[in-house]
Amino acid sequence: MCGIIGYIGKRSTKEILLDSLELLEYRGYDSAGIALFPGEADAPFVKKVAGRVSKLREITAGDTEEACAGIGHTRWATHGGVSDANAHPHNQGRVTLVHNGIIENYKELIKEYNLKDKLVSETDTEVAAAIMDHFYDGDAEKAIRSTISVLKGTFAFAVLFADQPGKIYAARNVSPIVVAMTEHGAMLASDVAALGVHAKEYAFLPEYHIACLSSKGIVVHDEKKHEVPLQLMTIDWDTSRGGKGGYAFYMEKEIHEQPDAIRDTIMPHIVDGRTTFTAEGIPHSLFRENQNIIVIACGTAMHAGLIGQQLFHTLANIHTDVAVASEFTYTNPVIKPGTLVIAVSQSGETIDTLEAIKYAKKRGAKVLSIVNVKGSTIADNSDYCIYTQAGPEIAVASTKAFTSQISIFYLLAIHTARLNGMLEPEEMKAYLDELMTVPDAIEEILEKKEFVKKMTNKFLHADNAFMIGRGLDYSLLLEGSLKLKEISYVHSEAYASGELKHGTIALITDGVPVVALVTQSLLASKEYSNIREVQSRGASMILITKESLYKDMNIPEDDTFILPEMSDMFMPFPAAVVMQLIAYYTSYTKGFDVDKPRNLAKVVTVE
Ligand code: M6R
Repeated sequence: MCGIIGYIGKRSTKEILLDSLELLEYRGYDSAGIALFPGEADAPFVKKVAGRVSKLREITAGDTEEACAGIGHTRWATHGGVSDANAHPHNQGRVTLVHNGIIENYKELIKEYNLKDKLVSETDTEVAAAIMDHFYDGDAEKAIRSTISVLKGTFAFAVLFADQPGKIYAARNVSPIVVAMTEHGAMLASDVAALGVHAKEYAFLPEYHIACLSSKGIVVHDEKKHEVPLQLMTIDWDTSRGGKGGYAFYMEKEIHEQPDAIRDTIMPHIVDGRTTFTAEGIPHSLFRENQNIIVIACGTAMHAGLIGQQLFHTLANIHTDVAVASEFTYTNPVIKPGTLVIAVSQSGETIDTLEAIKYAKKRGAKVLSIVNVKGSTIADNSDYCIYTQAGPEIAVASTKAFTSQISIFYLLAIHTARLNGMLEPEEMKAYLDELMTVPDAIEEILEKKEFVKKMTNKFLHADNAFMIGRGLDYSLLLEGSLKLKEISYVHSEAYASGELKHGTIALITDGVPVVALVTQSLLASKEYSNIREVQSRGASMILITKESLYKDMNIPEDDTFILPEMSDMFMPFPAAVVMQLIAYYTSYTKGFDVDKPRNLAKVVTVE
């Protein structure tokens, strides 16, 4: 987690750093800081504070705009509490640096280099700064190489050396750094999202390479100290999509962007009425030969995998497991010849997913990833990658990335079924035609968002909520429940309706909100009974269903959201959007910062 930024250029260094840090805040927002290097005569000075970038902006208001170099940081606390002292940058001797990652052996290093009396913070980062200063004899690259050779863990550093004005050095292991030359200067950042408004192209800094940014450009040396060219990639995200576009929060904007995100994601893979993944270089054999699939992912991306699992079962008859990435490596997963691992990640940087990929590859699996951020570490570490075209997702709560991920699963399941002779051409056409109507169905939901807002009254004073459903509805509710928890702080549990009576129904008492999602025709009558069970124990019901199933449900219209009529298989799309809106309006009405829920960060790069 944490976001880092560096800038050397003609514009106001302070403003560029602060603006970019705001764009990186989704990576953490416990504290923020910058170091500005005024020039030859003065060493870098640091301003940092516990709290958001807006607070940093306030405390730097009177400071100089100009600098020959600057670095900045927004923190998600790991080692050491949220305090001014623990905020980055950290300074030791001639070294001032910012860090994203975790240095696992920092305690041993404190002893080994006798640093105890030098340190003023509780962070692992300051230890790295002190060691770098210890090794520094005027040769910055040598000091960085010596330092990173003794570190265990993950790191991305941006470093200023007090006697080297006009230069920023950077190095990384696992945690990302991108670099870019812009029309007005050189930049580095944790993520391309911070560069988008300035740069048209960027490059990932390879692991253990060292970059030096100066007014002359960006020079990268590999581990053997040879200069290597930057592998430039184009920023093809529409930067006009940046900003909140008139919405109160990014989350609301991103919910509204779903029709476009889905359209942009699916259309390149439907050519002449057939599925295709040839542009990604994915051979047909990947889908023909595999005997089983394991989806690995975390959080929302894992929930997308649960929808995918049912699609692979239903359409392609392929055994599919879904594993929480952080548990995958500890559970001796059965990986046989022909096992296909599908890794799903919006950011492409989630360390748990990345480690699971590395493990799966070591065990001989082929890895196909579904990723949103181009060129990210997970994409880079996979045998094949399919990009979702959701564009930058800034709100911590994932919305458009989720529906884009599931749209890829629909395509993959249809594709696999087709290649294995399990779908007649007309069936495939019918599925693809319906998939292409999803954006319109979502537009319909968005038109009724005020109705969803009214329904959320039920959650405003609730401490607990339950969500019940079967089959695809249950998988989708796991995601809906996570959304509600993470941004509105209502404890919510999604339950397979049939499982409720095996224990959890004990928690249903007068007024406890229960959301029932009923979109699967074959399961509706059983669901009806489960709804009666909770109703008779006092549950305050919200029903989400489609017209054709509503008539039997016996729940007032005011408490019912009618989804657009689609085949059962496609109902997760509209249902997802309603669940997102429920979470959004609950959080919004309670007055929370919807985009930046407490304790969370958008990109999770710690295990
Ligand atoms: O970037 P990823 O998709 O790998 O992130 C995985 C989870 O951290 C993420 O989906 C998280 O659960 C969402 N922000 C929740 O809305």
